[in-house]
Amino acid sequence: MRTIGFIGLGHMGGPMAANLVKAGHRVLGHDIVPELLAAAVDAGVAAPGSATATAAAADVVITMLPAGRQVLGLYADEGLLAAARPGTLFVDCSTIDVADARAAHAAAVAAGMRALDAPVSGGVVGAEAATLTFMAGGGAAEFAEAEPLLAAMGKKAVHCGGEGAGQAAKICNNMILGISMIAVSEAFVLGESLGLSHQALFDVASTASGQCWALTSNCPVPGPVPGSPANRDYRPGFAAPLMAKDLGLAARAARAGGVHTELGLRAAELYADFAADSGATEDFSGIIRAIRDASQKGGDQA
Ligand SMILES: NC(=O)c1ccc[n+]([C@@H]2O[C@H](COP(=O)([O-])OP(=O)(O)OC[C@H]3O[C@@H](n4cnc5c(N)ncnc54)[C@H](O)[C@@H]3O)[C@@H](O)[C@H]2O)c1
Repeated sequence: MRTIGFIGLGHMGGPMAANLVKAGHRVLGHDIVPELLAAAVDAGVAAPGSATATAAAADVVITMLPAGRQVLGLYADEGLLAAARPGTLFVDCSTIDVADARAAHAAAVAAGMRALDAPVSGGVVGAEAATLTFMAGGGAAEFAEAEPLLAAMGKKAVHCGGEGAGQAAKICNNMILGISMIAVSEAFVLGESLGLSHQALFDVASTASGQCWALTSNCPVPGPVPGSPANRDYRPGFAAPLMAKDLGLAARAARAGGVHTELGLRAAELYADFAADSGATEDFSGIIRAIRDASQKGGDQA
């Protein structure tokens, strides 16, 4: 049994920490929102009262925070690295900029700690059901040490390479997903204008070369895939602002590396606009409605 410090007990971190408790670990936790900390305590997490007290008593410190700013801020300015015992393993599961992830690794190592970036895919449903996929970056020994903990919170963990490789895999995957959701949505709206039923297009594309997860699991029109968010008025699922965030990270990495990701950059723009407008609380598949509106087509056609 290891003592795990868990910092950031929000939509994802709360259920992830609860699953570590269920797996028999001693979990200490902290969040700046008292209600979230109280909910974690109800789930069996102990609350030493601060992030630094949490890190000081832990063998492994897991962070699940909004962005790189909070991760780097906690590690350095808020004294997390300084408070931990030498050699403590820091596992950051947040989705952050690759450059920030590498800076976090460097800061941890400079402070005598060890580090792994391990962002996730699978959303809140996966966090609750312990079916997340982890994409890890860092040393092989650090990955091996973290693996049993990741197994308690998810169904799969892939060691993607050195520091930052987990974040790189995450943003590359989500760039594919964002672009493919727009492609599937545009195809349905074009089909509508050509008098093609949603079911007919689905039946063809789902078994032909247009097949992809955005179509067959998260289908943006109601009907063909009963469990997709389109059947519940686009309640998330994977919220559009999170897709906008991930595409923004991919766009920044592409620009920094001089990589010509024309569709990735355009997808980032479209999702930024959608998330700032009608998509603020919707699943990312709701972008089909923005595409339909822009086409001045409107209406339900099945
Ligand atoms: N929600 C999803 O579906 C999903 C899916 C995959 C990845 N992610 C990624 O996971 C991360 C967390 O997402 P979330 O949906 O749980 O966000 P969230 O905002 O619900 O949780 C983040 C938590 O961090 C806490 N926090 C912020 N600064 C802190 C500090 N200095 N000290 C202690 N606590 C602090 C916040 O109070 C909040 O409770 C993000 O990076 C997100 O991109 C989310």
